[in-house]
Amino acid sequence: MQTVLSGIRSTGNLHLGNYFGAIKNFIKMQHENNCYFFVADYHSLTTHPDPAHLHDNVRKVLSEYLACGIDPDVATIYIQSDVPEVTELYLLLSMNAYVGELERTTTFKEKIRKQPENINAGLLTYAVLMAADILIHNAHKVPVGKDQEQHLEMTRKFARRFNQMYKTDFFNLPQAYNFGEKLVKVPGLDGSGKMGKSEGNGIYLSDSPKAIKKKVMRAVTDSGPTKANQEKPEAIQNLFSLMQLVSTPNTVQYFDDKYNSCEIRYGDMKKQLSEDITNFTNPYRERIEEIYRNDEYLRKVAVQGAEKAKINAQKTLKTVREIMGFKNF
Ligand code: TYM
Repeated sequence: MQTVLSGIRSTGNLHLGNYFGAIKNFIKMQHENNCYFFVADYHSLTTHPDPAHLHDNVRKVLSEYLACGIDPDVATIYIQSDVPEVTELYLLLSMNAYVGELERTTTFKEKIRKQPENINAGLLTYAVLMAADILIHNAHKVPVGKDQEQHLEMTRKFARRFNQMYKTDFFNLPQAYNFGEKLVKVPGLDGSGKMGKSEGNGIYLSDSPKAIKKKVMRAVTDSGPTKANQEKPEAIQNLFSLMQLVSTPNTVQYFDDKYNSCEIRYGDMKKQLSEDITNFTNPYRERIEEIYRNDEYLRKVAVQGAEKAKINAQKTLKTVREIMGFKNF
């Protein structure tokens, strides 16, 4: 049986990118694999969250995971900071991660641009902590969106380096996974790029129908095609890409035909898209609210998950320490 691991940073609510990039694949996998799903609260520290909100952010993401259909009796669901073995592995791996390669990571370069006032060492070693998350369970597969592909590549690099250095084949080389298809990049509706928490362009599973409508109606478009079958500019393609995720194939075809014959009315398309997103998110929103209020259930899930995750994490760490030459007196 293969081990699958997926994680999400606790820096905001889950958006459609998180769902279609990672969670949907994970849900499909949870019954056939040994699955670990965690809330990455240590990773959220890179942006210095207010202590008054830290716990609530974790609680929100945990509620949202569960509302999406991740089953705590089937998969192991836990909070990263409840399994401190991860931090020891992070330290051990960081000794073989070189500053030059960390500085060249795309996400690090982006962060430098976005938060020049806070280029902390945690940002530089973000990929090492992520590798520790994955390798602590020696995962084979990691369902992620396209944006995390490079981090997975680095995880393989660190795992391979460890294996070579200590002449072992202990670590698996984990693969980013989307059922053999290309990794997904869910776009934002602001004309370019991906949907993301830090991009501020997310459509969240917990958004009200009114909020969804407002966001979709504001989406960037243009004055419309002037030639039949002309290529779609990025902003328009993004609308279609989102539609492909939540609408029926007939609906997508209808608007595609309208675009190709230069008869498209973006207002109609946006109205349809916001309705389809709302129909998609509605059941999740209701479940999120219910679970979020259920203190006892959330505590039970977190405690049970941490216990299960720790057993495996301790096993991995013990072996890693032995391989590296640590011995008890
Ligand atoms: P995060 O919290 O930004 O995103 C969580 C998951 O959602 C995917 N995702 C997307 N997929 C497609 N299109 C998008 N627009 C989009 N936005 C987000 C991400 O690829 C990710 O799979 N560093 C990670 C959290 C993490 C982690 C891990 C993930 C920490 N350790 C170990 C996997 C394994 C992050 O910030 O993801």
